[in-house]
Amino acid sequence: MVNIDDIPIQYLPTLIKAMPKAELHIHIEGSLEPELIFQLARRNGIALPYSNVGDLRAAYAFSDLQSFLDVYYACASVLQQEQDFYDMAWSYLTRAAAEHVVHAEIFFDPQTHTQRGVAMGAIVFGLSRACQDAHERLGVDAQLILCFLRHLSEESAMETLEQALPFREHFIGVGLDSSELGNPPEKFAKVFARCKAFGLHRVAHAGEEGPSSYVSKALDILEVERIDHGVNAIHDPDLMKRLVRERIPITVCPLSNVKLRVFPSLDAHNLVQMLNMGVCVTLNSDDPAYFGGYINDNYLQTVETLKLSSRQVFVLARNSFEASFVSAKQREIWLKDLEYCFENFRPETESKS
Ligand code: HPA
Ligand code: ZN
Repeated sequence: MVNIDDIPIQYLPTLIKAMPKAELHIHIEGSLEPELIFQLARRNGIALPYSNVGDLRAAYAFSDLQSFLDVYYACASVLQQEQDFYDMAWSYLTRAAAEHVVHAEIFFDPQTHTQRGVAMGAIVFGLSRACQDAHERLGVDAQLILCFLRHLSEESAMETLEQALPFREHFIGVGLDSSELGNPPEKFAKVFARCKAFGLHRVAHAGEEGPSSYVSKALDILEVERIDHGVNAIHDPDLMKRLVRERIPITVCPLSNVKLRVFPSLDAHNLVQMLNMGVCVTLNSDDPAYFGGYINDNYLQTVETLKLSSRQVFVLARNSFEASFVSAKQREIWLKDLEYCFENFRPETESKS
């Protein structure tokens, strides 16, 4: 049996690709690759402000969160029919399966689409059908989390929740995303309280561009169970102690943080510091089509740049299951699979495959 602490670093890329993992911070609209964007634009007769894939990719030079969101919302306009939502999710899920993601909790932004006249049912059924097919055909367990756009009003969020309630069995929770600065958690206190009453899981983006106080408020006012990004929590020592003490997970997205200039470079990222302090850090891709990598790229580049050990890679993957909204029984099964993968790792056979 292999000791998890003793796996040489040259074998980590093989191990990272092979290990079972959960992805907990992925915006499905952010998985829309340029080729699929153009395909859907043609199918739906939509004119894009970019003449081809190359032009579009050239627009992926972001200076901050808002500069990304402007492109992201423009590209989401190609999604019109239920089948478009299915195709987008299926494309992500096949990729996730190939990267040994066994469980994904997928964000979707209904307001981006309902504002353009797309029916809530078309969005939810398209995504949900892809999740069901992924379970049956790819062996990937995928669940949906409905996100409210924080640059819009709480009334709009409340109306969105009402529209979604007839489809309650198709999503496990709610989140909060879009422009963070100037849109603090308390703006959504009432809608999150209502979501709690419906037994929905709650998460929120906080401390990506916003201050550490947004992380505290997301916990105190929105009663979230997980923080998305959360990297600015590091500026508040008491909050850091709380994250550790209460074992509140954060879903870190290193490549996203570099692309959106939350950190000037990957080697300046604070995830190892957080990990060493005992925070339940998970690694995720956020918007992989826009930020230059899916989940394994996030692991691979982080491990290489920040010189993570085999133990730290193991802990990140273990945290992804611990932080997920799955049953205790299912979590135990995946944790055992993960341990088995590390303890029985044989580089000679693995690297040939
Ligand atoms: N932050 C906020 N909103 C988002 C993001 C993000 O990283 N990606 C998609 N919507
Ligand atoms: Zn995000």
